[in-house]
Amino acid sequence: MFRPASRLASLPAPATIAMATRARALAAEGKPVLSLALGQPDFPSPKEALLGAEAEVAEGRTGYPPIVGQKELLEAIAYKFKRDNELDVPLSSLMVANGGKQVIFNAFMASLEEGDEVIVPAPYWVSYPLIAKMFGARPVEVQCREENGFRPDPEAIRQAITPKTRWLVLNFPNNPTGAILERDDLEALARIVRDAPHVLIMCDEIYEHLTFDGRKHLSLRQVAPDLADRLLIVNGVSKAYAMTGWRVGFACGPDALIKAMVKVQGNATSGICTLAQGGAASVLRGGMEGVETMRQTYERRRNKVVQVLRDIPGLTCAMPQGAFYAYPGLQALIGKKSGGGRLLNNDVAFAEALLEEEHLATVPGSAFGYGPHLRLSFAASDEQLMEACTRLKRFVQAIHP
Ligand SMILES: Cc1ncc(COP(=O)(O)O)c(C=O)c1O
Repeated sequence: MFRPASRLASLPAPATIAMATRARALAAEGKPVLSLALGQPDFPSPKEALLGAEAEVAEGRTGYPPIVGQKELLEAIAYKFKRDNELDVPLSSLMVANGGKQVIFNAFMASLEEGDEVIVPAPYWVSYPLIAKMFGARPVEVQCREENGFRPDPEAIRQAITPKTRWLVLNFPNNPTGAILERDDLEALARIVRDAPHVLIMCDEIYEHLTFDGRKHLSLRQVAPDLADRLLIVNGVSKAYAMTGWRVGFACGPDALIKAMVKVQGNATSGICTLAQGGAASVLRGGMEGVETMRQTYERRRNKVVQVLRDIPGLTCAMPQGAFYAYPGLQALIGKKSGGGRLLNNDVAFAEALLEEEHLATVPGSAFGYGPHLRLSFAASDEQLMEACTRLKRFVQAIHP
C-alpha cells in the first residue's frame, strides 16, 4: 500500500486546489464558471518565441542540453540583466531551470537544513513556505500591513532574524498585492541584512516589467551591490512574455550557490527543453514593445477593476503598483451571511460562497498568509473582468447580518 513520504505531511492541501477542483466540477455540470483565480497572462506567447524554438530544431539542437542552460540563453540572460537592471553578471553566476518555481526549489534544496528558518513577508506567493517546509525549514511570516502599502517594515524584518535564519524572501512587484519597493525601502532592508551576514536573500523579480503609474522596478542588487555574494535573483519569462507553458526560469547568484543548485537540478530534471531555451533566448534578446503593450493593457484593466471594486460598499481596495492582481479587503463583510444563507466567517468561506452562488472563482487572501482578502487576477479580457465585477457586486449586495 502506498504511504506518502513524511516530508509531504507538512504540505497542506491548499484552499486554492479545493477551489479549483470545485470550479471544475461546477463547470462540468454546465454552470457558467468564470475564473480570476489563475496567475497566468491571457496573451499568446510572442512570435519570436516560436521562431527561437524552431531554430533549435532546424539547427539540430535537440539532444541533452547542459544542465546549467545553453550558452546562447545564458548570454541572453546576461544581456537582459545589463539592459534592464544595469548589472554586469558573469555567466558563472547564472542558471536556467524549469520555471521560476524550480529555481526556488533548487535554491532551497541546495541550502536548507532541518530547523532552518525562512523569513517570508506576507502576503506571499504560496510556494515559498511550502517548498521551504519540504526541506524541513520553518517559514517565519512577517506581516506587511496594508496601511504601509503592503511593503515590509524593516524593523519587523530585523526582529524576525535569528541565528537560524537562512533566507529572507523578497518578492516585489508582489504576488498577490502588486506592491513594489522604492530605493528607500531597499536601502533600509540592505542595512538590516548587512548586520546579519548569515542570511541569504532571495529576490523574486518575475513581475519586474509589470509596473504601473510610471514606476520602475529596482533590484536590491543594484542598490546594494555589496550583498551580491549572498543574493539570489529569481526571474523567468512566464509573466512578462506570456510564456507560462514554456517553463523557463533563471537565477543569478553567487557562483557556489549556483553550482549547488545545478547539482540539485542535475539529479532531478537535467537541463530544460532545448526548444524552450531557444524561445526564451529569442524573446530576451528581442525588443520590449510587445511587453510594453501587455503592460499597458494590464494597467488599463487595473484602473477599471479597482475603480469598480472601490464602488462596491463593504469592499476596500488598495491600488496595485505592479503585477496583475487586485487584492480587495473583506473586513467589513466577515461574520455576515451570503444571499444563499452561507456564513461568511472567513475569506475561504467567502470565496467558496462566491463560487457556489455566483460561479466566480477567486483565491482567498489567507492562502497568501494575509486575510480577509480576495485575490482577483486581471489577466483576463475586459468582458470577463466586467462580468466578474458584476457578479461580485451582486454577491456583496446580497450579504446580510
Ligand atoms: C511570485 C512568483 N514567483 C515565481 C512564480 C513561478 O513562475 P514560473 O514557475 O511559471 O516561472 C510565480 C508564478 O505564479 C510567481 O507568482
